Amino acid sequence: ITVYVPRDSAAVSVGANEVAAAIQREAGAEPVRIVRNGSRGMLWLEPFVEVETDRGRVGYGPVSPEAVPGLVEAGLFEGAPHELCQGVVEELSWMRDQQRLCFARVGVTDPLSTTDYEANGGLAGLRRALELDPADVVTQVTESGLRGRGGAGFPAGIKWNTVRSTEGELKFVCCNADEGDSGTFADRMLMEGDPFCLIEGMTIAAHAVGASEGYLYIRSEYPDAVNTMRRAIDIAYAHGWLGENVLGSGLKFDLFVRVGAGAYICGEETSMLESLEGKRGMVRSKPPIPAITGLFGKPTVVNNVLTLASVPTILADGPQAYAGLGVERSRGTQVFQLAGNIARGGVFETAFGITLGELVNGYGGGTRSGRPVRAVQVGGPLGSYVPTSQFGLPMDYEAFAAADAMLGHGGVVVFDDTVDMAVMARFAMEFCAEESCGKCTPCRVGAVRGVEVIDKITGGEDRDGNLALLNDLCELMTDGSLCAMGGLTPNPVRSALTHFPDDFMTNSARHE
Ligand code: NAI
Ligand code: SF4
Repeated sequence: ITVYVPRDSAAVSVGANEVAAAIQREAGAEPVRIVRNGSRGMLWLEPFVEVETDRGRVGYGPVSPEAVPGLVEAGLFEGAPHELCQGVVEELSWMRDQQRLCFARVGVTDPLSTTDYEANGGLAGLRRALELDPADVVTQVTESGLRGRGGAGFPAGIKWNTVRSTEGELKFVCCNADEGDSGTFADRMLMEGDPFCLIEGMTIAAHAVGASEGYLYIRSEYPDAVNTMRRAIDIAYAHGWLGENVLGSGLKFDLFVRVGAGAYICGEETSMLESLEGKRGMVRSKPPIPAITGLFGKPTVVNNVLTLASVPTILADGPQAYAGLGVERSRGTQVFQLAGNIARGGVFETAFGITLGELVNGYGGGTRSGRPVRAVQVGGPLGSYVPTSQFGLPMDYEAFAAADAMLGHGGVVVFDDTVDMAVMARFAMEFCAEESCGKCTPCRVGAVRGVEVIDKITGGEDRDGNLALLNDLCELMTDGSLCAMGGLTPNPVRSALTHFPDDFMTNSARHE
């Protein structure tokens, strides 16, 4: 009897370890094997327990430790009906309707089992890549249409080609796992649920560009991901998947984990490089771009976790299969993350083109509070607030840009009709003031002034004059900031002003 209880920190935070212990206890003499898998991403059902049956894996959730004796009595180990039983996992609409490429193994396998990994398609991409000339690997990634999943959506193949064609004895591959956007957790879930996939993606990148060292920069708020990645790297070395002679191919690739110290700006690629070099996380001017002058001044690939974790499947199944998914210039799949005030939050990987409304009201089930949705912030704290009138927008980089919004790293944070959008606009400026690296004036000073001006507007002080001032300030921050932190902070502010102007009225009931 095989029972799966996730070890993902989202599941552990709501008692998965206690549930696993209770199942072991209740099993008594029964031959029960508990596998600690990653999370399937249906976070409202965590701890989500699955049992292997003839029909497939049957899921139960949310399971509390107290519910375990009753569940076992009712026939948990046979996959018997129970009020917590959700049915066969693969047949649930949340799972069935996804196109899981990046997350194909997350929740399915034991994250640290090399046998599980290979039995579920692991290493096929790396093996294929090692048979190819590095330039052809880059071509395949370019042909797949894969764009950077950190938020900016820059074509991965073009970035790799810049690194590949830049002369250099020493080159690096750096993975940005400083997932700081509000409402995002896909990088963490991938690292905790399928760490070998990221190692494989980084190794393919190393082969493609001629890099011999890799750094995985993980935020300190993710201790479980740090531990899982460190253990996975040790295992990968022991199996010859990393090191002097990767899979007997002659490729040399060493991989190290570095842990951040809690600054949002270290998610900006040049700050991350400074931090990796042991310095304070300050933004560097671009150019030069990291692809040419990166870590320790050497040519460096900097990609997000999801970008690199998408690469093995592209190599294994061919670029056309990946490019066949999606819309317009947004090809392949994105791992959307539903969060905030939402009935069913979690990760949902699907091809670009699904509408925002389908995600929020369809799969997400609307708000958790049961009140109407009022606004959704897409793309993290620097993303625009999108009103429900725009729920028909397809999840596509360009469609969002045309609507003055951005997809970013795929985070979707939902607010109900009790939200005060003037407070949210103020929060954007406050957040920028707090997290600014301080290098340039429009961001360092502008954000502080932004908070003050919004306070004056909502306090009724020369409303028209201060609204004009806020607009000017937003323009200055957009045009004059050195990086996206100061440059994108006006997005949430402007979108709140455009779509919810009444919230900025002094007499708005929302301020009372
Ligand atoms: P960017 O547009 O300046 O650069 C995108 C990437 O393309 C960079 O890696 C850059 O070095 C590279 N690049 C540009 N031109 C190139 C060329 N000719 N050859 C090779 N590489 C080239 O955007 P940036 O500032 O790196 O990122 C901004 C985005 O970050 C925002 O859109 C936002 O969505 C996202 N973001 C993500 C967060 C997260 O937690 N994942 C947090 C905050 C922001
Ligand atoms: Fe630093 Fe802000 Fe300027 Fe970016 S915009 S360089 S975070 S001060």
